[in-house]
Amino acid sequence: MLDLYNRKINYLRISVTDRCNLRCRYCMPEDEVCMVKHSEILTYEEIQQVVAVAVPLGIDKIRLTGGEPLVRKDIVQLVRMIANVKGVKDIAITTNGILLEEFAIHLANAGLHRVNISLDTIDPEKFYQITRGGDIRKVFEGIEAASFAGLSPIKVNCVVKQSSDEPDALAVKQYCMENRLQVRFISQMDLSTGHFGIVDGGTGGDCSHCNRLRLTPTGKMKPCLFSDLEYDIREMGIQKAIEAAIFAKPEKGTVNLSNCFHNIGG
Ligand code: 5AD
Ligand code: SF4
Repeated sequence: MLDLYNRKINYLRISVTDRCNLRCRYCMPEDEVCMVKHSEILTYEEIQQVVAVAVPLGIDKIRLTGGEPLVRKDIVQLVRMIANVKGVKDIAITTNGILLEEFAIHLANAGLHRVNISLDTIDPEKFYQITRGGDIRKVFEGIEAASFAGLSPIKVNCVVKQSSDEPDALAVKQYCMENRLQVRFISQMDLSTGHFGIVDGGTGGDCSHCNRLRLTPTGKMKPCLFSDLEYDIREMGIQKAIEAAIFAKPEKGTVNLSNCFHNIGG
C-alpha cells in the first residue's frame, strides 16, 4: 500500500518481547521496572494472523526484533509460522547474538533468511560495560554459527556516539571486513527528544524513503518509531489497524514519549 506521501509500505518490524538478556546502557533500564505483563503479549497465533493480513496489503518483508527476540520461548516456531504465510519474501531477525550459537541452525531450518547482530565494540571489557555484563565471546560464536547455518547476509549494527570514525567503530569495521560481514553504523538515538539520524550503510532514519510499520509486543501497530501514534490490533481488528497506521504515517518523525527501545526494537 502507498501512504499519503507516496511511500510504498512493504516492511513490517515485529517486536516479539520487551525482555532482553543484556542491559545496554542506551536501551534498557538496569532492572525490569517497565516490563509488560505476559498476558498482554501477543500470542504467536496472533502474530501470524497479523502477517497473514498484512501480506495482501503489501507487506512482504518481516523482521523480528525485541528486546531480544531469541529470549522468547519457542521463537523458532514463530519463524516457521511466518515462513508458512504465502507472500512473505524475506524474514530477518535483529539479535544481540548471545543465543545465536544455540539457535542459528534451527532458525535457518525454520525459514529465517538473515540476521542483524548488534555489536558496538570488539573489546571484551567495553562490551561488558556497555551491555552491563555481556560476554562478547558468545556473540562471536553466534556470528560463526549464523554463518555456518547459511544465514546471509549477516549484518552488524554498530551504535556510535558521534561518528563512524570513533575507535570502537573502526575496530568493528575492521572485524567485519575480516569476517565478511556487512556493517551499519547507527547514531545513538533518543526517542524522547527526537534525536535521530540516517543509518550509515542502512535504510533506517531516512523519512522520505521509509517503508516501515512496527508492531509492539502488546499489539500496537505503529507507523513511525519517532511518533506516539499507535493503533491497537486487538481493539480495532488487524486490517483496520494496519490501514489506519499507513494512513497516519507522518511525513517525518518527531518524538516518541510512549515507547522505549527495548519495546519497539530500534
Ligand atoms: N539508539 C540507536 N540504536 C539503538 N538500539 C537500541 N537502542 C538504541 C539507541 N538508543 C539498537 C541496538 C540494536 C537495535 C535493536 O537497536 O543496537 O542494534
Ligand atoms: Fe538488549 Fe539490544 Fe537493548 Fe542491548 S540494545 S539491551 S541487546 S535489546
